[in-house]
Amino acid sequence: MGKKLRTAVAGISVAVMSLGGSVAAMADGVALYYKYTCYTCHGNDAKTPILPMYPKLAGQNKQYIIAQMKDIKSGKRNNGYSATMKGIMYGVTEPEIEAIAEWLESLEQKKAPLQEAASENLEQKIIKGRLRDANRPSTFQ
Ligand code: HEC
Repeated sequence: MGKKLRTAVAGISVAVMSLGGSVAAMADGVALYYKYTCYTCHGNDAKTPILPMYPKLAGQNKQYIIAQMKDIKSGKRNNGYSATMKGIMYGVTEPEIEAIAEWLESLEQKKAPLQEAASENLEQKIIKGRLRDANRPSTFQ
């Protein structure tokens, strides 16, 4: 192996190693999401729940997800429909909660057209008055 190639190969393995941790956690996360049947209530993509009263999870903050899952498991959160999920949480360990949360956080949240337009550069659009042309509720007219 030439020196250049060896350096390139070494560089790639370092890159793969540094990615390794989170990629492994994400792979575990999706597997656990199916193993524990989370998808049956929260949807395959974690943003199409079977009932409108059930939450969308995709793109939610990891720390928030972890806290909610722990609280539902312990019974500390006992509002709304959390009882329907509590039984599932019985067998889910803390490292598993973290892996699932990391994967859920990595998913893309569904954005409304206005949100998408706004996130591009809201300030610029307001200054130039272009927001008027964007897809938005008529109440702003
Ligand atoms: C039997 C249906 C059901 C299953 C299975 C289920 N959940 Fe839930 N989950 C719910 C419901 C309903 C709520 C909302 C509880 C409430 O009304 O407060 C919820 C809430 C949550 C929340 C809090 C969301 C928020 O915005 O506060 C998270 C996170 C969550 N579920 C993740 C999971 C994960 C991960 C799994 C699999 C380990 C799972 N759920 C399995 C029904 C379910």
